[in-house]
Parts: sequence; structure tokens; C-alpha cells
Amino acid sequence: MDVPLVRARRGGDDERIAFIVRRAFGGEAEVNLVADLRTEGASVCEFVAEREASGLVGHIAFSRLDARSPDKRIEAVALAPLAVLPTHQRHGIGSGLVESGLAHLRELKVEIVIVLGDPAFYSRFGFSALPARLLHAPYSGEGFQALELRPGILGKRMWHVGYPAAFAKLA
Ligand SMILES: CC(C)(COP(=O)(O)OP(=O)(O)OC[C@H]1O[C@@H](n2cnc3c(N)ncnc32)[C@H](O)[C@@H]1OP(=O)(O)O)[C@@H](O)C(=O)NCCC(=O)NCCS
Repeated sequence: MDVPLVRARRGGDDERIAFIVRRAFGGEAEVNLVADLRTEGASVCEFVAEREASGLVGHIAFSRLDARSPDKRIEAVALAPLAVLPTHQRHGIGSGLVESGLAHLRELKVEIVIVLGDPAFYSRFGFSALPARLLHAPYSGEGFQALELRPGILGKRMWHVGYPAAFAKLA
């Protein structure tokens, strides 16, 4: 079987990444988000999934958030966007990208990862809307989920979460 390799984004990937994101989301908004996060210097890391026979088929991006309470700041990162070519979905590629990304963020000592997405997909990695209720952010609701890579880091206090400007352009 052609098992996908997950690796860090490198020079020369960007045109194909834009193609994947465009096909997965069916528009330009998330393509622009990826580009704007890089331009803004907010990108923490990006990974791609590569198949021997098909080349790059998936992509995930993580960007820096400003998460703070009055007297404390935590290392917080947003997961967005995540995209797999429609013809390669439901083969574990999206899950592989999330898992590889989270493993890398743990090495970077990131304390919390935040995502806006379908709980049916993200709950399997430990994301939950419950801790996200402690976050004051431009997003809310059941799709707004958090994963404490450092368990208990949020405690019981409220946190203000500032997003990179690139997110404000999303409808
Ligand atoms: C969401 C997405 C990245 C998942 O990628 P994928 O490679 O198909 O995911 P996987 O094969 O690892 O799927 C793992 C599981 O999630 C489920 N799943 C996939 N997409 C899902 C979705 N949108 N909602 C709910 N469950 C989903 C699969 O059924 C599978 O479940 P199973 O293991 O019980 O069969 C992909 O469908 C995609 O690119 N969608 C369009 C863009 C998008 O919505 N991105 C996420 C925005 S936050």
C-alpha cells in the first residue's frame, strides 16, 4: 500500500499546497489564510502528506495565538486549515497530519491547541468544547475546541485569545 509520508513543508511545496487547500475547501478563503499567516509571520509550522504515486495530497497549518489572563501568558497555537484532496479523503491522511502536528507541538512545548471544526472529527485527538469555554475569542460554540497539551494549564480562570490578523479576513 502507498502509505503517506508526513513531513514538514519545504520550498517548492507552496503551489501544490494551494491546490490542495483550494480543492478541499472549494474556494480561495483558506488558500489566502495560509498565505497571509506566512506573510504575517504567524505560522508556527506546516506539514504535508505525500504519497509516492500522487505527490502531496494533504496539508495542515499551525499558527501562533496570543493567549493570556491578567497575570499569565500561555503558549497557544491555532490548528487551521487542515485539508486533504477530496480524492484521498477517508484514508487516514487527515488524522495522520493532526497526529504528526500535535507530536511536533509537544516537542515545542506548546501548551494548548485550539481549533474550529467538526467535533466528530477532532474529538478523537482529545479536542473538546469544554476547556474552550474558558477562552474569550472571536469564535465560540460546539465547534470551538481546545486541547491542553499541558493538562490542566487553563485552570479555572478565563483567558483572552488573540488571533493573527489573517483570520479576520475569513467570513
Ligand atoms: C476534514 C478532513 C481534513 C479529514 O481528512 P481525511 O483524510 O478524510 O480524514 P481521515 O481519513 O483521517 O478521517 C478520520 C475519520 O474522520 C471522519 N471524518 C472525516 N471528515 C470528517 C468530517 N468532515 N466530519 C466528521 N467526520 C469526518 C472519517 O469518517 C474518519 O472516521 P472513521 O475513522 O470513523 O471512518 C478532510 O475531509 C477535508 O479536507 N475536508 C475539507 C476541508 C475541511 O473541512 N477541513 C477541516 C476544517 S477544520
